[in-house]
Amino acid sequence: MFVILNEVKNLMISTESIIEILRLSPQNDITTQSLIGEGKGGGESSPAWGEEKCVKEKKMERKTFNITIDGRSLDAEKGITILQAAREFGIHIPTMCYMEHLTPYGGCRLCIVEISHNGSKPFMDTSCTHEIREGLDIQTQTPKIIRARKMLAELLVAGAPNVKIAQDIAARMGLLKVRFPMEDNRCVLCGLCIRMCYEQMDGKALGFVGRGMGRKISMPFEVRPETCRLCRGCDYVCPGVIIPCRGVTEPGELCGRCVRIEETPACCSMTTFGCFCEQNPL
Ligand code: SF4
Ligand code: SF4
Ligand code: SF4
Ligand code: FES
Repeated sequence: MFVILNEVKNLMISTESIIEILRLSPQNDITTQSLIGEGKGGGESSPAWGEEKCVKEKKMERKTFNITIDGRSLDAEKGITILQAAREFGIHIPTMCYMEHLTPYGGCRLCIVEISHNGSKPFMDTSCTHEIREGLDIQTQTPKIIRARKMLAELLVAGAPNVKIAQDIAARMGLLKVRFPMEDNRCVLCGLCIRMCYEQMDGKALGFVGRGMGRKISMPFEVRPETCRLCRGCDYVCPGVIIPCRGVTEPGELCGRCVRIEETPACCSMTTFGCFCEQNPL
Protein backbone atom coordinates (compact mmCIF):
# COMPACT_ATOMS: atom_id res chain seq x y z
CA MET A 1 0.00 0.00 0.00
CA PHE A 2 2.80 2.37 1.00
CA VAL A 3 4.61 1.62 -2.29
CA ILE A 4 1.48 2.44 -4.32
CA LEU A 5 0.97 5.73 -2.43
CA ASN A 6 4.60 6.64 -3.10
CA GLU A 7 4.17 5.87 -6.82
CA VAL A 8 1.08 8.11 -7.00
CA LYS A 9 2.91 10.90 -5.17
CA ASN A 10 5.89 10.68 -7.55
CA LEU A 11 3.60 10.72 -10.57
CA MET A 12 1.82 13.84 -9.25
CA ILE A 13 5.11 15.68 -8.65
CA SER A 14 6.35 14.72 -12.12
CA THR A 15 3.06 15.75 -13.69
CA GLU A 16 3.31 19.22 -12.11
CA SER A 17 6.78 19.64 -13.62
CA ILE A 18 5.68 18.42 -17.02
CA ILE A 19 2.76 20.85 -17.13
CA GLU A 20 5.21 23.68 -16.46
CA ILE A 21 7.51 22.45 -19.25
CA LEU A 22 4.75 21.88 -21.76
CA ARG A 23 3.76 25.51 -21.33
CA LEU A 24 7.05 26.32 -23.05
CA SER A 25 6.08 26.26 -26.68
CA PRO A 26 8.80 25.58 -29.26
CA GLN A 27 10.89 28.71 -29.54
CA ASN A 28 11.40 28.73 -33.27
CA ASP A 29 8.71 28.17 -35.84
CA ILE A 30 10.70 25.92 -38.13
CA THR A 31 7.81 25.54 -40.55
CA THR A 32 8.00 29.15 -41.63
CA GLN A 33 11.69 29.85 -41.26
CA SER A 34 13.54 31.93 -43.80
CA LEU A 35 16.86 31.05 -45.32
CA ILE A 36 19.89 32.06 -43.30
CA GLY A 37 21.13 35.45 -44.41
CA GLU A 38 18.09 36.09 -46.61
CA GLY A 39 17.12 39.74 -46.84
CA LYS A 40 20.39 41.00 -45.46
CA GLY A 41 21.27 42.76 -48.67
CA GLY A 42 24.12 40.48 -49.74
CA GLY A 43 26.81 41.18 -47.17
CA GLU A 44 28.19 44.14 -45.24
CA SER A 45 29.07 47.36 -46.97
CA SER A 46 31.67 49.85 -45.74
CA PRO A 47 30.35 52.29 -43.14
CA ALA A 48 29.56 55.82 -44.26
CA TRP A 49 31.88 58.53 -42.89
CA GLY A 50 29.46 59.54 -40.10
CA GLU A 51 28.93 55.93 -39.02
CA GLU A 52 32.62 55.23 -38.44
CA LYS A 53 32.58 56.31 -34.78
CA CYS A 54 29.59 54.11 -34.13
CA VAL A 55 31.31 51.08 -35.68
CA LYS A 56 34.45 51.68 -33.58
CA GLU A 57 32.34 51.89 -30.42
CA LYS A 58 30.63 48.63 -31.34
CA LYS A 59 33.99 46.93 -31.75
CA MET A 60 34.99 48.15 -28.29
CA GLU A 61 31.88 46.59 -26.74
CA ARG A 62 32.45 43.64 -24.42
CA LYS A 63 32.78 40.38 -26.31
CA THR A 64 31.94 38.13 -23.38
CA PHE A 65 29.30 37.84 -20.69
CA ASN A 66 29.99 36.59 -17.22
CA ILE A 67 27.52 33.85 -16.32
CA THR A 68 27.32 31.17 -13.65
CA ILE A 69 26.53 27.55 -14.51
CA ASP A 70 26.09 25.14 -11.60
CA GLY A 71 28.03 27.52 -9.36
CA ARG A 72 30.96 27.94 -11.80
CA SER A 73 31.66 31.51 -12.87
CA LEU A 74 32.41 31.56 -16.61
CA ASP A 75 33.15 34.15 -19.28
CA ALA A 76 31.20 33.03 -22.33
CA GLU A 77 31.13 34.54 -25.78
CA LYS A 78 28.36 37.02 -26.42
CA GLY A 79 25.58 35.81 -28.72
CA ILE A 80 25.77 32.10 -27.89
CA THR A 81 23.11 30.05 -26.14
CA ILE A 82 23.25 28.53 -22.66
CA LEU A 83 23.69 25.08 -24.22
CA GLN A 84 26.62 26.24 -26.34
CA ALA A 85 28.23 27.92 -23.33
CA ALA A 86 27.76 24.79 -21.21
CA ARG A 87 29.30 22.59 -23.92
CA GLU A 88 32.22 24.96 -24.31
CA PHE A 89 33.03 24.51 -20.63
CA GLY A 90 32.40 20.75 -20.58
CA ILE A 91 29.07 20.85 -18.75
CA HIS A 92 26.70 18.17 -20.02
CA ILE A 93 23.08 19.03 -20.80
CA PRO A 94 21.05 16.31 -22.56
CA THR A 95 19.51 17.16 -25.94
CA MET A 96 17.53 15.48 -28.67
CA CYS A 97 16.23 18.00 -31.20
CA TYR A 98 19.42 20.08 -31.23
CA MET A 99 22.06 19.68 -33.92
CA GLU A 100 24.99 21.97 -34.49
CA HIS A 101 24.67 24.13 -37.64
CA LEU A 102 20.88 23.83 -37.69
CA THR A 103 18.59 26.47 -36.18
CA PRO A 104 17.63 25.43 -32.62
CA TYR A 105 13.98 24.45 -32.44
CA GLY A 106 13.27 24.04 -28.73
CA GLY A 107 10.86 21.16 -29.30
CA CYS A 108 11.98 18.20 -27.18
CA ARG A 109 12.62 20.27 -24.02
CA LEU A 110 15.14 17.77 -22.69
CA CYS A 111 17.70 20.54 -22.42
CA ILE A 112 15.67 22.54 -19.89
CA VAL A 113 17.58 24.36 -17.17
CA GLU A 114 16.64 26.71 -14.35
CA ILE A 115 17.61 30.32 -14.97
CA SER A 116 17.65 33.34 -12.69
CA HIS A 117 18.99 36.84 -13.17
CA ASN A 118 20.20 39.13 -10.39
CA GLY A 119 18.57 37.00 -7.72
CA SER A 120 15.19 36.78 -9.47
CA LYS A 121 12.91 33.75 -9.01
CA PRO A 122 14.29 30.89 -11.15
CA PHE A 123 12.29 29.87 -14.20
CA MET A 124 12.69 26.93 -16.58
CA ASP A 125 13.63 27.36 -20.21
CA THR A 126 15.24 25.37 -22.99
CA SER A 127 18.99 25.96 -22.96
CA CYS A 128 19.37 25.37 -26.72
CA THR A 129 17.28 28.45 -27.52
CA HIS A 130 18.04 30.77 -24.57
CA GLU A 131 20.78 33.25 -25.39
CA ILE A 132 23.16 34.18 -22.58
CA ARG A 133 23.37 37.64 -21.07
CA GLU A 134 25.42 39.23 -18.34
CA GLY A 135 24.78 37.88 -14.86
CA LEU A 136 22.66 34.82 -15.69
CA ASP A 137 22.71 32.16 -13.00
CA ILE A 138 21.94 28.75 -14.50
CA GLN A 139 21.33 25.44 -12.77
CA THR A 140 21.38 22.30 -14.92
CA GLN A 141 20.83 19.53 -12.37
CA THR A 142 18.28 20.60 -9.73
CA PRO A 143 15.85 17.91 -8.47
CA LYS A 144 13.05 19.74 -10.31
CA ILE A 145 14.98 19.62 -13.61
CA ILE A 146 15.93 15.96 -13.17
CA ARG A 147 12.29 15.03 -12.40
CA ALA A 148 11.05 16.93 -15.44
CA ARG A 149 13.65 15.38 -17.76
CA LYS A 150 12.80 11.90 -16.49
CA MET A 151 9.15 12.51 -17.21
CA LEU A 152 9.96 13.77 -20.72
CA ALA A 153 12.17 10.72 -21.33
CA GLU A 154 9.39 8.43 -20.15
CA LEU A 155 6.88 10.05 -22.51
CA LEU A 156 9.41 9.87 -25.32
CA VAL A 157 10.19 6.17 -24.91
CA ALA A 158 6.51 5.33 -24.39
CA GLY A 159 5.73 6.95 -27.74
CA ALA A 160 8.64 5.51 -29.69
CA PRO A 161 10.14 2.47 -27.91
CA ASN A 162 11.74 1.20 -31.11
CA VAL A 163 13.64 4.39 -31.81
CA LYS A 164 17.11 3.93 -30.41
CA ILE A 165 17.62 7.50 -29.27
CA ALA A 166 14.51 7.20 -27.09
CA GLN A 167 15.90 4.04 -25.45
CA ASP A 168 19.30 5.70 -24.98
CA ILE A 169 17.81 8.79 -23.36
CA ALA A 170 15.61 6.68 -21.07
CA ALA A 171 18.63 4.61 -20.01
CA ARG A 172 20.77 7.68 -19.39
CA MET A 173 18.00 9.16 -17.23
CA GLY A 174 18.01 5.96 -15.17
CA LEU A 175 14.44 4.96 -16.05
CA LEU A 176 13.55 1.42 -15.08
CA LYS A 177 9.96 1.23 -16.28
CA VAL A 178 7.35 3.14 -18.24
CA ARG A 179 4.03 4.03 -16.64
CA PHE A 180 2.28 5.18 -19.82
CA PRO A 181 0.59 3.18 -22.58
CA MET A 182 3.17 2.22 -25.20
CA GLU A 183 2.81 3.19 -28.85
CA ASP A 184 5.03 2.37 -31.80
CA ASN A 185 5.82 5.69 -33.45
CA ARG A 186 8.93 5.86 -35.61
CA CYS A 187 9.04 9.65 -35.51
CA VAL A 188 9.97 11.54 -32.33
CA LEU A 189 8.95 14.92 -33.84
CA CYS A 190 12.41 16.39 -33.39
CA GLY A 191 12.04 18.45 -36.59
CA LEU A 192 15.66 17.78 -37.62
CA CYS A 193 14.57 16.58 -41.07
CA ILE A 194 12.66 19.82 -41.73
CA ARG A 195 15.60 21.99 -40.76
CA MET A 196 18.09 19.85 -42.67
CA CYS A 197 15.94 20.01 -45.79
CA TYR A 198 15.25 23.72 -45.49
CA GLU A 199 18.57 25.06 -44.28
CA GLN A 200 21.20 22.74 -45.75
CA MET A 201 19.59 21.09 -48.78
CA ASP A 202 17.49 24.02 -49.99
CA GLY A 203 14.64 21.55 -50.42
CA LYS A 204 11.72 23.22 -48.59
CA ALA A 205 9.92 19.92 -48.98
CA LEU A 206 8.97 18.99 -45.40
CA GLY A 207 6.91 20.46 -42.58
CA PHE A 208 4.83 19.61 -39.53
CA VAL A 209 1.12 19.03 -40.05
CA GLY A 210 -1.61 18.51 -37.47
CA ARG A 211 -1.67 19.11 -33.74
CA GLY A 212 -1.37 17.12 -30.55
CA MET A 213 -1.48 13.36 -31.06
CA GLY A 214 -2.07 13.84 -34.80
CA ARG A 215 1.08 15.91 -35.35
CA LYS A 216 3.38 14.45 -37.98
CA ILE A 217 5.95 15.25 -40.65
CA SER A 218 4.66 15.55 -44.16
CA MET A 219 5.34 16.89 -47.61
CA PRO A 220 2.83 19.44 -48.95
CA PHE A 221 -0.44 17.55 -49.56
CA GLU A 222 1.58 14.37 -48.99
CA VAL A 223 3.04 14.63 -52.49
CA ARG A 224 6.77 14.92 -53.15
CA PRO A 225 7.38 18.43 -54.51
CA GLU A 226 9.81 19.18 -57.31
CA THR A 227 12.07 20.93 -54.82
CA CYS A 228 12.87 17.55 -53.25
CA ARG A 229 15.94 16.21 -55.02
CA LEU A 230 15.96 12.88 -53.19
CA CYS A 231 19.23 13.85 -51.53
CA ARG A 232 18.33 11.83 -48.38
CA GLY A 233 19.59 14.62 -46.12
CA CYS A 234 16.43 14.20 -44.05
CA ASP A 235 17.15 10.48 -43.53
CA TYR A 236 20.73 11.26 -42.61
CA VAL A 237 19.72 13.24 -39.52
CA CYS A 238 16.57 11.32 -38.54
CA PRO A 239 16.91 9.51 -35.18
CA GLY A 240 14.22 7.09 -36.31
CA VAL A 241 16.27 6.04 -39.33
CA ILE A 242 19.93 6.27 -38.32
CA ILE A 243 19.99 3.07 -36.26
CA PRO A 244 16.78 1.09 -35.85
CA CYS A 245 16.37 -0.32 -32.37
CA ARG A 246 15.40 -3.98 -32.66
CA GLY A 247 15.89 -5.33 -29.18
CA VAL A 248 12.53 -4.41 -27.66
CA THR A 249 9.93 -7.12 -28.08
CA GLU A 250 7.39 -6.64 -25.27
CA PRO A 251 5.23 -3.52 -24.72
CA GLY A 252 6.66 -1.46 -21.87
CA GLU A 253 10.08 -3.09 -22.11
CA LEU A 254 13.13 -0.88 -21.74
CA CYS A 255 16.43 -1.95 -23.18
CA GLY A 256 19.15 0.70 -22.93
CA ARG A 257 21.94 -1.85 -23.42
CA CYS A 258 23.63 0.57 -25.81
CA VAL A 259 24.27 2.79 -22.82
CA ARG A 260 24.99 0.03 -20.31
CA ILE A 261 27.71 -1.53 -22.45
CA GLU A 262 28.77 -4.00 -19.77
CA GLU A 263 25.79 -6.08 -20.98
CA THR A 264 26.16 -7.45 -24.49
CA PRO A 265 23.28 -6.05 -26.52
CA ALA A 266 21.12 -8.89 -27.79
CA CYS A 267 20.36 -7.07 -31.01
CA CYS A 268 23.79 -5.64 -31.64
CA SER A 269 26.40 -8.30 -32.24
CA MET A 270 30.00 -7.16 -31.69
CA THR A 271 28.53 -4.35 -29.52
CA THR A 272 28.84 -1.99 -32.46
CA PHE A 273 25.97 0.19 -31.34
CA GLY A 274 27.30 0.31 -27.79
CA CYS A 275 30.56 1.80 -29.04
CA PHE A 276 28.65 4.28 -31.12
CA CYS A 277 26.56 5.39 -28.15
CA GLU A 278 29.50 5.87 -25.82
CA GLN A 279 31.41 7.94 -28.34
CA ASN A 280 28.43 10.12 -29.03
CA PRO A 281 27.00 11.12 -25.64
CA LEU A 282 23.55 12.64 -26.02
S1 SF4 B 1 15.37 14.09 -49.78
FE1 SF4 B 1 13.92 15.73 -50.29
S2 SF4 B 1 12.84 16.05 -48.36
FE2 SF4 B 1 14.74 14.98 -47.84
S3 SF4 B 1 16.26 16.59 -47.39
FE3 SF4 B 1 16.48 16.05 -49.55
S4 SF4 B 1 15.21 17.56 -50.58
FE4 SF4 B 1 14.53 17.54 -48.44
S1 SF4 C 1 11.03 12.10 -39.31
FE1 SF4 C 1 12.90 11.77 -38.12
S2 SF4 C 1 14.03 13.71 -38.21
FE2 SF4 C 1 11.92 14.12 -38.87
S3 SF4 C 1 10.89 14.79 -37.00
FE3 SF4 C 1 10.54 12.58 -37.17
S4 SF4 C 1 12.22 11.64 -35.99
FE4 SF4 C 1 12.79 13.78 -36.35
S1 SF4 D 1 20.98 -2.56 -27.57
FE1 SF4 D 1 19.69 -2.67 -29.41
S2 SF4 D 1 17.61 -2.70 -28.58
FE2 SF4 D 1 18.94 -1.99 -26.94
S3 SF4 D 1 18.91 0.24 -27.06
FE3 SF4 D 1 20.65 -0.46 -28.27
S4 SF4 D 1 19.88 -0.67 -30.39
FE4 SF4 D 1 18.11 -0.56 -29.01
S1 FES E 1 14.61 21.61 -26.79
FE1 FES E 1 16.75 21.89 -26.59
S2 FES E 1 17.55 20.07 -27.41
FE2 FES E 1 15.42 19.84 -27.75
